[in-house]
Amino acid sequence: MPGIVPSSVGWVHPADTVSGVQLTVVDHPLARARLSRMRDERTDNAMFRAALRELTQMLVYEATRDLQVAEEPITTPVTATTGYRLAAPPLIVPVLRAGLGMADTAHGMLPESQMGFVGLARNEETFQPEAYMASLPESLVGRDVFVLDPMLATGGSLVHCCELLTARGTTSITVLCALAAPDGIRRLEESGLPLRVFTASIDEGLNDKAYIVPGLGDAGDRQFGAV
Ligand code: PRP
Ligand code: URA
Repeated sequence: MPGIVPSSVGWVHPADTVSGVQLTVVDHPLARARLSRMRDERTDNAMFRAALRELTQMLVYEATRDLQVAEEPITTPVTATTGYRLAAPPLIVPVLRAGLGMADTAHGMLPESQMGFVGLARNEETFQPEAYMASLPESLVGRDVFVLDPMLATGGSLVHCCELLTARGTTSITVLCALAAPDGIRRLEESGLPLRVFTASIDEGLNDKAYIVPGLGDAGDRQFGAV
């Protein structure tokens, strides 16, 4: 997509900063393999959930690379040395429903983190997000927030979620998604929100139902069944 020129080497493409959005494509053979399993229409709900959990590990691993650590003295069975812990574990916010499938894995890797929740359902005629719940700390001033949603399609849902978060005072939001469409990335850029986005793929575009192409279908239905 214009303005974003992913490199072809390494575990992570170099981050490109475009209009306040810092974009990283986590491109790795293991990520491609998990994503392919998720894309395949023959993959059942359980296998889809497993592949999403594994992909989430890779996204979290990369997205936490720059977190600050605090030193603390520890004693091994052999001697005293310096240990490390996260100085300020980020708040984890899965976007319901589909982000739920990433939540346990992210929390397992960030066990000291708190978790908030945002519930959004996209109206499939207008493609606008409809909010049905938010359970978040009153103030997010000075806090890093990691938002989990496997799909960035038009971007409406993530802009809505991130605006809820910035309204509570955070200036540091990291979005983790399995797949992103160029339209959604543009929408995030236009929002002016200060964001980092980690995704395993930037797909070709959207179809006339605003589904990502080639995509993987409805990420909520693929995990939990159609409701
Ligand atoms: C999906 C997905 C995102 C949203 C992306 O959720 O999990 O939240 O669509 O679309 P957008 O970028 O065009 O806003 P959906 O609304 O289908 O709800 P679900 O997770 O409950 O299935
Ligand atoms: N939401 C999904 O679950 N899939 C898409 O392709 C677009 C929005």
